Amino acid sequence: MATTDLEGRVALVTGARRGIGFAIATALLEHGASVVVGGREPAQFDDLQQRLEQVAPGRVYGCAADLTTETGRAALVGAAPQIDILVNNAGGFTDVVDTLTSTEDEWNQQLHLNLTVPFLLCQAVLPQMIDRKWGRIINIGSVVVAAPQLGNAIGYVAAKSGLVGFTKQLSAEVASHGVTANVINPGTIKTEHLGEYFEASGVTEESIASGIAVGRLGRPAEIAAAVPFLASEQGGFITGAVIDINGGAVSA
Ligand SMILES: NC(=O)c1ccc[n+]([C@@H]2O[C@H](COP(=O)([O-])OP(=O)(O)OC[C@H]3O[C@@H](n4cnc5c(N)ncnc54)[C@H](OP(=O)(O)O)[C@@H]3O)[C@@H](O)[C@H]2O)c1
Repeated sequence: MATTDLEGRVALVTGARRGIGFAIATALLEHGASVVVGGREPAQFDDLQQRLEQVAPGRVYGCAADLTTETGRAALVGAAPQIDILVNNAGGFTDVVDTLTSTEDEWNQQLHLNLTVPFLLCQAVLPQMIDRKWGRIINIGSVVVAAPQLGNAIGYVAAKSGLVGFTKQLSAEVASHGVTANVINPGTIKTEHLGEYFEASGVTEESIASGIAVGRLGRPAEIAAAVPFLASEQGGFITGAVIDINGGAVSA
């Protein structure tokens, strides 16, 4: 059997309706795990559940849930009997705002979704992981922490940078309990969201690709591929790591 066999494990993957999150949920199902997924709108959750059930019938749990609310987080965490693996993938930003133009509300919203929600979900699932002496936390950050560029939201970059520090500290706190915590920092990945961003910003795929050593954008599956390994038994010695998957977009 593959060393990434995750049979019997349950993974909560946030933001799984599309893009990188959908690819991660699919990869975990393909490696034998069950998944808990959400989505803010009930109809969108139903559609997501149906699509994932086609990959692995009977191994998809979840509910519609806004992760920025306590009730939403509690509903999602409670949707399966246990959570062994937490993938904090939900995130992003809507408006491009810099330090001069960002309002305090925008800053707070970006920090809340991209940093505070992952922290609160870790708090929610860690007690059961520690009880079972086994757990995996995988936080999805961004290449922006190492490669500042125009066209981001300042609070988003601050939050993703904070996610690295948070995850490293967390990894030290929980290592003796059999729980690992790591960050994957994706480069620019060709998702539906990115298409919307290109349309709104006027930035082109070609201009982004020209700054990437391999000469193209990444694919969601190329981020997702790392997750089953980090979540596996063989990934047990990897903790506090920042895993850059960016096609060589960042050079020293
Ligand atoms: N795409 C890239 O190039 C890229 C690069 C670096 C890092 N990343 C990071 O990778 C992750 C996924 O990116 P993506 O491009 O695949 O994103 P995406 O397509 O925009 O998906 C984001 C997901 O987050 C969910 N979400 C947002 N706010 C939420 C809330 N309040 N409650 C519950 N769910 C919420 C959305 O849920 P709904 O289903 O309800 O809409 C959506 O499924 C993000 O953390 C992003 O910052 C992406």
